[in-house]
Order: sequence, then structure tokens, then C-alpha cells
Amino acid sequence: MSDYKRILVTSALPYANGPVHIGHLAGVYVPADIYVRYQRMRGREVLFVCGSDEHGVPVTQRARKEGITPQQVVDRYHSLIKKSFEDFGIGFDIYSRTTSATHHEFASQFFRKLYDDGKLIERTSKQYYDEEVQEFLTDRDIVGECPHCGNPDAYGNQCEKCGRDLSPEELINPRSKRSKSTPVLRETKNWYLPLNEYEPWLREWILEQHKEWRPNVYGQCKSWLDSGLQPRAMTRDLDWGIPVPVEGAEGKVLYVWFDAPIGYISNTKELCEREPGKWGEWQKWWQDEETKLVHFIGKDNIVFHCIIFPSMMKAHGQYIMPDNVPANEFLNLENDKISTSKNWAVWLNEYLEDFPGMQDVLRYVLTANAPETKDNDFTWKDFQARNNSELVAIYGNFVNRAVVLTHKYFGGKVPADAKPEAIDAETLAQLPQIKAAIEDYIEHYKFREALKEAMNLARIGNKYISDTEPWKVAKTDLDRTASILYTSLQICANLAIAFSPFLPFSSAKLQQMLCLDTLSWDQLGNAGILPAGHQIAPAQLMFAKIEDAQIDAQIAKLQASKAAHEAAAKVSAPAPAKAECVFEDFEKMDIRTATVLEAEKVPNTDKLLHLKIDTGLDVRELVSGIAQYYTPEEMIGKQICILANLKPRKIKGIVSQGMILMAQQPDGKMRVVSPEERLDNGATIG
Ligand code: 2FM
Ligand code: ZN
Repeated sequence: MSDYKRILVTSALPYANGPVHIGHLAGVYVPADIYVRYQRMRGREVLFVCGSDEHGVPVTQRARKEGITPQQVVDRYHSLIKKSFEDFGIGFDIYSRTTSATHHEFASQFFRKLYDDGKLIERTSKQYYDEEVQEFLTDRDIVGECPHCGNPDAYGNQCEKCGRDLSPEELINPRSKRSKSTPVLRETKNWYLPLNEYEPWLREWILEQHKEWRPNVYGQCKSWLDSGLQPRAMTRDLDWGIPVPVEGAEGKVLYVWFDAPIGYISNTKELCEREPGKWGEWQKWWQDEETKLVHFIGKDNIVFHCIIFPSMMKAHGQYIMPDNVPANEFLNLENDKISTSKNWAVWLNEYLEDFPGMQDVLRYVLTANAPETKDNDFTWKDFQARNNSELVAIYGNFVNRAVVLTHKYFGGKVPADAKPEAIDAETLAQLPQIKAAIEDYIEHYKFREALKEAMNLARIGNKYISDTEPWKVAKTDLDRTASILYTSLQICANLAIAFSPFLPFSSAKLQQMLCLDTLSWDQLGNAGILPAGHQIAPAQLMFAKIEDAQIDAQIAKLQASKAAHEAAAKVSAPAPAKAECVFEDFEKMDIRTATVLEAEKVPNTDKLLHLKIDTGLDVRELVSGIAQYYTPEEMIGKQICILANLKPRKIKGIVSQGMILMAQQPDGKMRVVSPEERLDNGATIG
């Protein structure tokens, strides 16, 4: 903390064009929240600012795809994202949005000041324009032939076939994705921030004065600076965004990466104006050298937070610079890159539907496995193992034994330290060391290591109670039992504090169990937090075991979404023709009409329905992989066609007699084949 008076923490404003997933949480929001909770517990003056990033091309693209307005897109996702953060206990002081009036006005004024002070340069360039839709095109809106590999559908910024970066002018026969017409090059004027002019200052500020920044952050900055900075356009020819507040700039908006980071400041202003007495003036947070500014971000945001935004603030002239920019690497999911478009993600809102009340388990796993120094992988098996063998078996088990035994032998009152032994003092002596280690790690943004220390404390407690066996000692020596439980309960109180920044929900539960008024960081390391005679509450379960079936269901869900995506991505052409067959081949098949009498999902599967059908010949059961396409209710009463003489097969313990005839569309979707009008069951088809 050194010479600072207060800490301002920002975490990247997520794009409001989709829900948030575990990658967001692990990369940015959980580490930022741990840092803030810890600093608040230390009694420091902290402000934690975030909000939705609501401008930018992805929002417009989503709106176009769904046939709604960009404002409707951001309204929907802003609320969803805000709720997910609240649900996971991410304790922002403000979570606002860049479509707010305060932000529009603030960002406009910021731009205008740079413009008036002559800090921006005006440049004319040629860009592709679609004459049919009468708009300039973004690089992703232009496709054409890749000059390197001949891919006819390369994008204006990249060829997805050969992976090369492109610029739109390099494409052969470019066409607009918006109207399919051929775009024309048109002159357009934009305003640029001459980053090159800030290069000497950036080199000194980052490369000389901030050698302590994480190697990934420092390294990226160095490589940008070493390759030479160029002026960068701060305005764009788009219609969704903040209008450029300059005459002659009609139809242009501020570059999303100009307006978004200013959102940190405008959101602070919004909060300060909402509760001025509490927060003071916004300027104190952004313009006073005694404020420590820390930006939590993902690695794809490094250049914007370390080079572009600081240059903007430097150009403005009144702002402080970040003290640190702890950027995380990426989190993968089951060995694959998390992808919103491929639906390869664990969405926070869905996680809570499947694991209600288990926010801390995810917070724990994402921190224990945080991608702090390299990309890391989240797997459901690891999630289960960390819950069952660490949270349940060590932390939860220790607390449970200490609290239950205190009720059993001492009526729920903290016993007196009646018969201390050396092992008690040796155990308790480790508390201050653990406190110091956690502090050092958190102050240096090493949250994985800090969490390990907290878990070590639980391990120490669990080992202590296993070694001292108070349940056995109680049979002969109640005084010694009292000392063991006294010691154990002090460790429990320390655990509630140590884990509080990481697992706030469980710490609150433990605090309640121990009937502690507050959890204060200063108390961590103290071996006498709970006085003898203090009444504690009955034991509550801190963590529940996660069963294999729950994990299998999550893996199956991911696989199903991958299969659906792959099917949808397949070219929309009919499947290739099959080899010729003879009439006798066809004649062997007994195809008939039947009616579904009953239908239900096969437990622990995503795809299978268990049906009872009337075939006219008999009533029989079959299992069909159509649960992705039909609910059981939709199937009941439906007349279908079946292959009745298919050899029976056991699927998930059910003997399936026959197969439903389904039509598969080129995009992979399946529909049952039904007769045009209702027929008798058992009518043969041929
Ligand atoms: O990468 C992103 O998700 C951006 N929306 C982050 C913006 S951070 C800030 F500058 F606002
Ligand atoms: Zn190519």
C-alpha cells in the first residue's frame, strides 16, 4: 500500500452482447473482488468500479442477427450480467453502463478537450463503403478472396483458413456481407491520437518504472513499444456509439476503445454524485496522486489499458496513471478455447441453476486454478475433485467436527483452555505466519498462492483435530477435550477471516455459526478470538459433496452443445446420396405407423427419451435420441412411423424395440416423420 491514501479498483467493462461465463469470472472479476474485499477488511478506503461496455460492433452485429435494436440487445444483457455478478458476490460499488447519459456527456467532453487542446490529428483515409446500405463497412463486414490461400470467404481483417491477418484492401473481389454488393473505396475523415508522441514517456513509465508488473503485461507492452507506435483512430464511421462532438463529424462515433475506459471515470462520477457525502468528489479518485489505481483485465486488453488509455489520460493532462495492471491469461474449458459463438462455455446464470447456492465452490476452483501466469484449463472433474477432497473433506469437515463436538460436550459454549499442551501452542503459532503470507501474496496479486495459504490453515486445523482425537479423549479427560476444542474453535474463527476475501458466502455462514459480530482482518493470527463461555450456533453444512452424475450431466451438456454447433456449421446441403440398393433390401424393413402413449426423459441423459408406443401389433417401449428436439409432452399423442422389426437393443438399461423414422435437415436438426392425416396404428409403409 506504501504511500497511497486510497485504492481505486476497476475491472474490465464486459461487452453487453452476451451473458458472462467462467472465463470472465476467473480472468477478471474474482481476482478483483478478492483484492477489494481484502483491502476493505484492512480498513482501507477502496472504490470498486465496473459497468457494461455497450457500444462497439459486436452489439450491432448481434442486433442485426436477431432483428432487434442495439439498445434492446444491451438492455437485455446489461441486466443479465449485472445479476450474475451480484449472484457471485462481486462487490462493485457501482455497476453502471456506457449508454448512460452521464457517460455520453463525460466521454464527449473528454474527446472535446483533446480536440480543443490540439491533441488529436485529423486524417483522411479510404475505406470501403456499401452504397446499398449507405454505410462504411467494418473489416468483418467485408469478405473476399484471400490473396494468400485463395479462400473465397476471407474476412477483411483475417483469413480463417490460413490464419493470416489481412486488411480489407488486400481482398480479391471484395463483397459486402451486409448487402452482397461490391463495396467502393470512399474517402473519410477521422481523428487520431498520435500514440507515437507518447512513446518516450511510455517507455520510461512502463519499462523503467514498472518492472514489477507481471511478466505477461510487461512483455506485451515492451513488444508494442519496440515495434513502434502509430497514430490510432479515435473515431469510427458507424452509427452505434457516442456521436463525435465536432462539426463535420456527422455519422461518426467515438471509437469503442476510446469511450469504454472513460466509462471507469464516468461511472465513478455517477456514484459520487449519487452519494457525494460517502464517496467525495470523483476527482479525488482519478486526479489525486495519493490514489492507487489498479486495473484488473484479461490479456487481450493489455494494450488498451497500458498504452492507449494512459496516453489518452496523459493527453488530457489531469489524470493519474495506474499503479498496476494485473492481467490474467485465458481460461480454457475441457481443453478447448471458451467460445461464445460455439456455446463452449459455462454460463454463470446456468451454473447457478445447476448448482444453486454453490457460488463459493466456483470461486474456489477458479482461484485455485487461476490463469495468472499461463493459460489454464477448467475441467468438471477437477471442479468435483477440488470440492469433494478440499472444501468438503478438509475445510468443511474440520469446522463441522469442531462445532458439533463443542455442542456435544459443552452445550455449544466455547470451553475454557483448561489443559493446554505443546501441540496447541505449536499449531496456533502458525496463524500469524499464514496471515503474513496471505497479505504478501494478495498485495502482489498472487491470488492462487494466497488461497493455498488459507487452505493450508484448514489443513492444519483438520490435522490437529485428527491427531488430538477429542472424541476419544472425552471419554477420560474432559479438561483436555476442552483445550482441544478451544484451540480448534480459534482456528475456525481464523478460517472465517482468512477465507473471507475468497469465499465470502461460506465465511458469512461460518461467522454465523461462531456468532461473531464482525470479521476483521486485524484479528487474523489471533489465538483468542473466541472467549471461553461464548455461545456458538448449531453446525450447518458448509459444503456439499458433488456426485458423479452431476458432473456427467455437465460434460454431456457441453458435448451436446458442441454437437449442435458442429451440425449447424455443416454446409447447408443435403447429405450425399447413398449407394444403390435392391427392392429386396427395402422389403426386409417392417415400417409402420404407431402412436406415442407415454414419454419421459431417460434420467441423467440430455438426448434420450423413453417412449411407450402403440404399434397396432402391440404396445412396446423404445429409446430415441430426440430429447434435444422434442419435449416428452410434445411427443405424447403424436403419430409417428417406426422401423418395427429392428433387432431390440438395450439402451441405458431399457430394451428398445424399434426405431423412430426421423428426417434430418442439413443443419442437423431432426424432425419426426408423421403421416399427413391420422391413420390406424400398424398401417404398413412401403
Ligand atoms: O474486452 C472486453 O470485454 C471489453 N469490453 C473490455 C473493456 S474494458 C474498458 F476499457 F472498459
Ligand atoms: Zn487465407
